[in-house]
Amino acid sequence: MSNKLTSVKDYENYAVNTLPKPVLGYYQGGACEEFTLSINNRAFNKLRIIPRMLRNVQNRDYSLTVQGNKVRLPIGISPCAMHKMAHEDGECASARAAGKYGAIFILSTLSNCSLEEVAHAAPDTVKWFQLYVYKDRAMTISLIQRAEKAGYKALVLTVDTPVFGIRYRDIKNNFSLPSHLKLGNFSEENSKMSKTDGSGLTDYVMKLFNDQLVWDDVLWLKRITKLPIIIKGILSAADARIAADLGCNGVFVSNHGGRQLDTSPATIEALPSIVREVGHQVDVYLDCGIRQGTDAFKALALGAKMVFLAQPILWGLTYNGQKGAEDVFGLIINEFDNAMALTGCRKLDQIKKEMVVHESVFSKL
Ligand code: LAC
Repeated sequence: MSNKLTSVKDYENYAVNTLPKPVLGYYQGGACEEFTLSINNRAFNKLRIIPRMLRNVQNRDYSLTVQGNKVRLPIGISPCAMHKMAHEDGECASARAAGKYGAIFILSTLSNCSLEEVAHAAPDTVKWFQLYVYKDRAMTISLIQRAEKAGYKALVLTVDTPVFGIRYRDIKNNFSLPSHLKLGNFSEENSKMSKTDGSGLTDYVMKLFNDQLVWDDVLWLKRITKLPIIIKGILSAADARIAADLGCNGVFVSNHGGRQLDTSPATIEALPSIVREVGHQVDVYLDCGIRQGTDAFKALALGAKMVFLAQPILWGLTYNGQKGAEDVFGLIINEFDNAMALTGCRKLDQIKKEMVVHESVFSKL
């Protein structure tokens, strides 16, 4: 039997059989009963794509301009903490893999490689910086200034984490950053997760993240940076409206990979009402549950300007570092390209809402 990995699932299976249990539990797990984690992908599977025929699909082009930057495709890499647990090259490898396809890479505040190292390793990749606001404002300001200086093109402010979600897998596995690794953006001292019983990461977050944030803090952020501000973790039209009214540059529909509030909606379920509310005013992005090219197609049809994914990249990194990340990302891009061709779409603006139908429509026939 051939060992060739030909699908995202193959890479995931490899990672499942290879990664230490606490690392796998962290990368793969969600909050509480993991209901939201499970529906993130199932919700995509409830949607059907209705293809159109005979429309000449030669020379397909997916390029678009996002936050003032030209990118080659509407699929990017979402922020995800601690890539070195998958491969020693960590986020430098993932950012380079994004660059290979002209895709956007979003670096997590909790990366293992520092933001400067990533900028140095992947100078040609369009990079955004995901920001957590720390109780220590000076520490937060310093992160923003460093990101600006290193050439990051936008700030992605995560707003769904005033406290950490309850992650039973991490508690069971006593998950902590392995002792040979550090959080690249922080001093040794601020990178420690010392807890040996329960989740060391939860401890870290509870100690250091700011749980008092309000919308006024977004205005504070706007005052101290010129970078576009994208608000990540939005699941309601009401919050999307506030973000747009405050002059944010993008609304990022996300449930944090099902890792925060369990039983919150799948992002593809939350997307349409948010697009209706603010889609004409600001970019709407989406992550969580994108596992194949057709998922990206569905989200774009329902009004997302771009989609992002992280987990498949981690499986690729685990398999073979940058090359593995490139290969697995390439599979998804190829599936997206294939879906474009088979639906009669040569350009992104040919993807239309009416091409995606919920399965319930068919039961009424
Ligand atoms: C998490 C954070 C670190 O979900 O984003 O684990």
